[in-house]
Amino acid sequence: MTTTEQQQIQFTKSFVQKTLEGAEGGHDWFHIHRVYNNALLISKSENVSAFIVSLGALLHDIADSKFNNGDESIGPQKAREFLFGINVDSVVIEHVIKIIENVSFKGGNEAQKFTSPELAVVQDADRLDALGAIGIARTFNYGGFKNRKLFDPSIKPDLNMDKEAYKASTAPTINHFYEKLLLLKDRMNTKTGKRIATDRHRYMETFLDQFYAEWDGKK
Ligand code: ADP
Ligand code: NI
Repeated sequence: MTTTEQQQIQFTKSFVQKTLEGAEGGHDWFHIHRVYNNALLISKSENVSAFIVSLGALLHDIADSKFNNGDESIGPQKAREFLFGINVDSVVIEHVIKIIENVSFKGGNEAQKFTSPELAVVQDADRLDALGAIGIARTFNYGGFKNRKLFDPSIKPDLNMDKEAYKASTAPTINHFYEKLLLLKDRMNTKTGKRIATDRHRYMETFLDQFYAEWDGKK
């Protein structure tokens, strides 16, 4: 990376940290920082532009539609304005915007419109942070933020939600494991992503076994 690019990354870190002050605990600066680190780790075994991966990871949740009345255009717009303001090359900007627009899971039943090696890395990095101990913590934090039940045995997971139904769901937090988290392991794009996801997946299965045993007073 050139010195200018390194400076642009530093500006971006400060911008994201400031913008996400007060964000929900699972989508705050620390989430971004973990995704950024995951992305750099995965990049080591991939043939990608570290600059584009870094900007994509840092800006991927700059204005998540979940926290903006479902509006999916605010994040890309904010990112574009910011990157333009710090003189990032326009071809790079457009690639980063595509990453932001396509990184999210949204029920997993929508066809992804854009692919690139850099998107593949950022997507895996973001998905890893949805798994394992951190994934469990984030999921219950989000459920609490939305005033969801922890679990309700009478409400079954729904695996056939389209994007709108997925976004509008008010189901108990445990259902999110079946509707998203446990599906991610088989959707990882990269070798490193798959390896780490497999470990984190196992950890979540152990958690669920223990959860149900305690729920039934068996442990
Ligand atoms: P999406 O699932 O739309 O791609 P994110 O990737 O931003 O959204 O989701 C990040 C994390 O937020 C999830 O991995 C999970 O921890 C939490 N989360 C999102 N939606 C839900 C939900 N319906 N119930 C519980 N947690 C959720
Ligand atoms: Ni994210």
